[in-house]
Order: sequence, then structure tokens, then C-alpha cells
Amino acid sequence: MRRSRFILTLSVLVCSVSLYAGTPVYKDAGAPVEQRVEDLLQRMTLREKILQISQGFIGTNDNPNNVMDNFKNFPPETGSLIYYSNTSELGNMLQKEAVEGTRLGIPILFGYDAIHGFITEFPIPLAQAASFNPELAARANEICAGECYDAGVHWTFSPMVDIARDPRWGRVMEGYGEDPYLASRFAEAVVKAYQGDDPSQPGRILSCLKHYVGYGASEAGRDYTAVDISRQTLWDTYLPPFKAGVEAGALTLMGAFNTLNGIPASANHYTLTDVLKEKWNFEGFVVSDWGSVEQLVNQRAAADLKEAAEKSINAGMDMDMCDNVFIDNLEELVQEGKVSVATIDEAVRRVLRVKFRSGLFENPYRDVKDADSVVSEQKFALAQELAQESMVLLKNDGVLPLSADSDIALIGPIAEDKDIVLGGWRSHSDSKHSVSIREALEGEFPGGRILYSEGCDVAGSGTDNENPYGHIRDEAHDYDYSHAVRTARKSDVVVLCLGEGKFWTGENKTRASISLPDDQIALFDKLCKLGKKVVVVVEAGRPLDLTPIESRASAILYIWSPGHRGGPAVAGILSGRYNPSGRLPMTFPYGIGQVPIYYNHRASCRYSPWGDYIDGTPMAPLYDFGYGLSYSTFKYSEITLDGLTAKVSVTNTSDRDGKETVLWFVSDPSCSIARPVKELKYFEKKLIKAGETVEFVFNMDKVRDLGYVDPEGNEFFEGGAFIISAGDESLNFEMY
Ligand code: NOJ
Repeated sequence: MRRSRFILTLSVLVCSVSLYAGTPVYKDAGAPVEQRVEDLLQRMTLREKILQISQGFIGTNDNPNNVMDNFKNFPPETGSLIYYSNTSELGNMLQKEAVEGTRLGIPILFGYDAIHGFITEFPIPLAQAASFNPELAARANEICAGECYDAGVHWTFSPMVDIARDPRWGRVMEGYGEDPYLASRFAEAVVKAYQGDDPSQPGRILSCLKHYVGYGASEAGRDYTAVDISRQTLWDTYLPPFKAGVEAGALTLMGAFNTLNGIPASANHYTLTDVLKEKWNFEGFVVSDWGSVEQLVNQRAAADLKEAAEKSINAGMDMDMCDNVFIDNLEELVQEGKVSVATIDEAVRRVLRVKFRSGLFENPYRDVKDADSVVSEQKFALAQELAQESMVLLKNDGVLPLSADSDIALIGPIAEDKDIVLGGWRSHSDSKHSVSIREALEGEFPGGRILYSEGCDVAGSGTDNENPYGHIRDEAHDYDYSHAVRTARKSDVVVLCLGEGKFWTGENKTRASISLPDDQIALFDKLCKLGKKVVVVVEAGRPLDLTPIESRASAILYIWSPGHRGGPAVAGILSGRYNPSGRLPMTFPYGIGQVPIYYNHRASCRYSPWGDYIDGTPMAPLYDFGYGLSYSTFKYSEITLDGLTAKVSVTNTSDRDGKETVLWFVSDPSCSIARPVKELKYFEKKLIKAGETVEFVFNMDKVRDLGYVDPEGNEFFEGGAFIISAGDESLNFEMY
């Protein structure tokens, strides 16, 4: 408090001096950011302040001739616009209005959803998590940042760090899965990839941690539902990735849509102010999600839009996305004394601080580059590397890798598709840059023959990939699978590419069923009857129910939505040129009835880890979190412990080099607050050459790795017995 009063006094003094001198401090790039903020703030009218904490949108559907008409809805004094264009041309034009055509010349902050690429499309974030290689994912996201930068996008609404435990929720594709530690590591890596050490440097953009907080707990996967999360679970499961991202330097957060324990996230003083700004000392700003301030009325938390504005800003929301609720109501609320000017000032201060820190005032324009000119083989090579590392081999009876001279029947609706592989929440990527699985296999197996048949459409109905609803649960259509069957007969092995259609995952893409479409399963059934080996390649933005195919498939490769270079990544894995190393970031259920199911649940009172449902469904999942096969075999030594340093040696006992990820889990058998049965505390992925042994080391920290957090976010260590495990090895120990 005292510190800010001091800064304010100092700034007013400096401002007055500079006012006389005629050089506004806020325009002086060499002046400290806090002085520039205060100087600018005290020059602004209330109206200008309210516009500064408001966000509109512009682009895509705007007829170029009418852009300026549309812009009038969001005048050049508007703080931020969501910018739907793949080049900086439009942005430069609008920016000129803001910088040269307004009284104070405050540049507009252009934001956009670049979720897994901008022009170059990388695997979806859930796939990135499956790589267990945050450093590699960071390199991809740096490329994304560079492409955004060139197009005049200053700010991406990414990373999404919502913990997700229900594959019915369409947005699982946007995050890093079910584990708070894994998500935290990716949050840090991705924030640093976007912002670098200094977000004002060329090629860097601002990141935005979203959706703060609890959105991933949507009931039964239904998007936008209210959630109830105990304070304990909030602190030990949902908040950690946000905290990690804030500590990594994220300068913005986005509020979640959902009501959290009775109070919508957009008006939640506890999460927005008490936790984020006071406990974590977050210095940046929070933007609401699209329309979420307005939606406080739907959520029965505000009687009308005016009250929505009041509750939201008073709770700590700093910027209002796209619903004009701040613009329309704050002035009146100030006059009525319901919102103080100091509250508005604090929000404006935060927005301006981020604008100054991001270098926007010094560098408001971008050179115009054609979208096609920014792609390169180098970027695609990285997209391929990340796709390869993210694909998870779930089953292999020995059929993989395929021999170089195989005659392959390549069948299924995903095999030739260059668009589906780009996934949900793609940006401005163009499928003309994709390499299909078919094209890639033809190049990969020049000694063999690739015989192709589509088999059936992705959604089974044959018409509309984008709108599967209504088709997906239909009876299987009376497809003529005879071409697919004839094709399979002529080959040595079948590679069957199945999966979800375009845009089946993402916002508001809830599925009640997580099965493959009936026609795809019917196709699989027909092919299995031929007695050939069937390798199933599954494209999806979420965990699917694989039980109908699991026992009969010879191999299953889960490729998620792999981006522009998914095809070559699949081909490289099938041929054995690349040894698979991905692992599951979410538990794969045995059937939809098990959902939600996640590895880090709390223990049951009757010690029987699993058992069966009385209808015969196992309680254990089909595939555990962290599961994934390799073409190599790895043998773990016993774990050793010296103080807080745990070590395990892993030997590659095969004749093939391979990457192994060691996952270190910790369990606390007895604690004041019952801990989950096990918790991931560290992981490391390393290449282990054939026949070699590599040591993996985990340096534990008592509080961080053996301790726990209470429902108020306080961290404790409680001495006693613990168990550490890696692979199939585990060690019981005591620590005080
Ligand atoms: C709504 C989505 O929930 C959010 O993730 C996205 O960033 C905004 N719309 C802006 O497009």
C-alpha cells in the first residue's frame, strides 16, 4: 500500500515536471514502466479509462469496405481487439487510428486464439502433453509466437491450463490433460516460449493463462456448466498450473465462464483478487471470457447488465471481452458510488503496465508479410518432430514396425484427409500444407505397395464431417465395404485410419458418447474377419473408448490431431524410422460409464484398488495415465535414495535406440489431509541407445514434493512414511 502511494506521489511529481517540459513521461521509452503508467493514467478521462479496459473484435467477416464502420463500435480508444486476420495490414490501419488519431495515442492490443500454431499448425496441446517433452513443445510455440508477431497479433489466448478429467468435454484437446504437475510444466514452458525473458523483443507475444478457474470440471463434460470444486481440490489440482504460469511470468489470465462453488469465475473475488493478485502478487491483468460478464445474468448472479459490470470489476476483473458491459455501465456505476474510480484505475493501470512491458508503445506496427511466405520446411520439420513424439503406441503384438517391402492396405476415412489432422482450434493454417498419411506412406514404403480404400466416411453418414451430431449414434449405415475388403485381401497388412471428424473437439463440442462412429467400427469388424493383421491409427482430440477394437487390433497408434505433418509422423512410426515415445496425459476409460476416471484420485475406504462393476465392466481403466509403448524394451534398476536424491538406472535392453520418459510418483500413506493415491512429481525424457544404461535423477524438495497444500493454499511438510516409484520400481522410505 505504502509502496504504491510513494510511486503515485513520485509519478505525479515527475509528470508535472514533464508536463511543463512538454514531453509526456509515458511517451519516454527510457522512463520506468510504473512512472509511465501513472503519468498516462492521470491524463485519462473516465471514458478513456473505461474504453481501455474493454475489448472488441474485428476481422474475418468484416467486409474490407466496411471495416471502419464496424470499428466505430469499438472506437480507436478501445484497449484491445480480438484480431481475425493472418496479416498485419488491417491491424496497422486500425493501429494508425489509435496511435495517430486519438488524443493520447494509446496503441490497441490485438489478441487472438493461436492455440497450437498460427500459420504452421502443430499437434493440439493435449498431444503436446503426450510428448512429455515441454522443451520441444516450447520450440513449436516459439514459432507460433513469431508467426503471430509478424501478423500483428500481440497476444495469444493460450496456454489453456484447465485440468480435465472428463473426455466428454470437448475442450480437453486444448489443455495438457488430467495431471496438475504435467500441466504446470507445460504452462511454464509455453508461457516462456511466447513471452521469452522480455515480451517486448521481436518475435515475442503475450501469453494468457486460461480459463481461471475450474472450467475443466464441467459436469459430465457439458460445456459452460457450473462447477463445484472443494477448496482442497481447487488448491491441489486446479490452481497449480495457473500458479506455475504466473511464476513463469505470464502477464495475462482469462477468467473462466463457469460458476465456481456458487460464484461465477467472472465475479469471484476470492480467485481473482484474494488468490491471484494478493497471494500470488500477479501484476498483469485478467480479461473475461467472451461475454462472460454479460452472462452473469444467465448465471443468476446479477439482476441485470449493470449489476454484472459492478460485480465483475469489483471482484477484480480488469478487462471485459466483447460484450460492452463495462462500456455501457461503468460511468453510471461510478456516479452512483457503486464502483470507485480507484477500482477502475487499478484495472487500467494493469492493462497499461502490460502494454508498456510488451513494447507496444514503441513498436505498434508490423511489416506486412504474406501468410504463405512465413511457412518453411524447417518449421514443418519441427511440427513433424513434435507430432512423432506425441503419438502414443497403445498396443503392438509385434506387427510394428512394418517391414520395408510390405504391401499395405491403407483404409479408412482419415487416411487421405489433410484437414481433419489440423484439429480443433486451428488458426489460419491451410490444409494445402498438410501431408496426408497416404502421401507419406507412399514415400515411406517405396519397396512395397500402398493400396488405398476410404472404407466409409468419417461420420458414417457420408455428408457432413463438421456436424456429426445425429449421425454418430445412428445405426450403422448399409455401407458397401466391399472395396475396402477387396483392397485388404490383396495386401499383407491392413493400416486402418479411424477417428473423429473435423471440429468434433473444441469449445462447446461435448459428446455424450466417446466411441468411434458405428460405421467405422463396422468397417473394422469386416476387416478383422479377413484374418489379416489390422493396425489401427486413431485420430482424435480426446480419449476415445477403444474397447470395441482393443482386443482384435494387432496394434493401435493414437495420433491425436497431429497438425500439418501428422502424415509423415505416422509413416515414420509405422516403418520404424521413428521409435514411438508418447505417453497418455489422460486416463483412457474402459467405457463411458467409468468417467470421470483419473489416476490421482483419493483412496477408497475399503482397500481393493479396483474390482468390477456388477455389470462386468472392470473398475480399472483401459489405459493408465502415463501409458505408452516403444519399439525398445527398457529395464529399470532398483530405486536408490540418498537424502532427498532419488536415482534409477534404465537400460535399453533392445537393439533399437529409443526415448524413455521416467515418471516419478510420490505417495503419502498417511497425512492430515488424505493425499491422492499417487502424484506425479517429476518426469524426464531421455534418449537411451540400444544396450546402454542411463541414470535418471530426481532431486526432491521436502515441501514441494513430499508436502501438501491446505484448502487455503498454505503449504506444509509432514514427516513420516512415503513411497516413491518409477516404472515398476518403488521404494518405501521415511523422511522427517
Ligand atoms: C471463448 C473461449 O472460451 C476462449 O477460450 C477464447 O479465448 C475466447 N472465446 C476468444 O476467442
